[in-house]
Amino acid sequence: MAFFKKKKQSLSEDIVLPEHIGIIMDGNGRWAKKRRLPRSAGHNAGGKVFRTISRYCSDIGIKYLTVYAFSTENWKRPKEEIDALMKLFKDYLEEALRDFKDDSIIVRFIGDKTPFSDDLKALMIENEEGSKDRDGMVLNIAMNYGSRDEIVRAVKAVSADVKDGKINVDDIDEQLISDRLYTAGQPDPDLIIRPSGEYRISNFMLWQAAYTEFVIMNKLWPDFTTDDLDEAIKTFNNRNRRFGGV
Ligand code: FPP
Repeated sequence: MAFFKKKKQSLSEDIVLPEHIGIIMDGNGRWAKKRRLPRSAGHNAGGKVFRTISRYCSDIGIKYLTVYAFSTENWKRPKEEIDALMKLFKDYLEEALRDFKDDSIIVRFIGDKTPFSDDLKALMIENEEGSKDRDGMVLNIAMNYGSRDEIVRAVKAVSADVKDGKINVDDIDEQLISDRLYTAGQPDPDLIIRPSGEYRISNFMLWQAAYTEFVIMNKLWPDFTTDDLDEAIKTFNNRNRRFGGV
């Protein structure tokens, strides 16, 4: 792989890379509070780390990366903080279009785009359309994403197909549900990393994470480094995945 940056990596040759990594990018607010900065400063720092880590994942050969950027519950935050996050998303998406013309990353958004401003929605669609024929890592950015909401949508879609006579109730199986999630056609995450020391799933990929390995790290997201990612991959390699078997 031309963009494989071996020397940056502290992973040995025999390490097995997870095919799909999910990251709950948590701890921006606490990082800012520790420095007596506004929460938006934590998000800005977190945005820089997101850029570094997504590039690194692509460089080392991860096939799918899903990052939790904004949940369906995050709208409850103060307007000032939401405005700062929307600006951050807009800046990133403009930059992605401007600077990454030769990039191999396929950008996808998982979540309901409806509540975002027209210009943000247009940027999301432009990034998806502009990157869909690339051949590199799939980067799912979860924005206005909630896993329960995703499952409700899938149930509605299945119900509509039954009502329209396209399928029978007996045709409903796990694959049929998976095919109606935002992540349809993608493998389930092998590894989900949650920095900031919280032991919660926070409505992230509930269906897809049935057999995912969780790695909780005591680092706030803005302090997270490529070495921490390597560490999480090494921990993943020491897990004995049995998928319900023995
Ligand atoms: C959770 O930390 C973080 C968020 C709700 C925002 C995540 C967004 C970024 C990292 C920005 C970069 C994303 C893109 C796509 C450019 P928190 O605010 O809940 O932290 P706390 O638990 O310490 O308060």
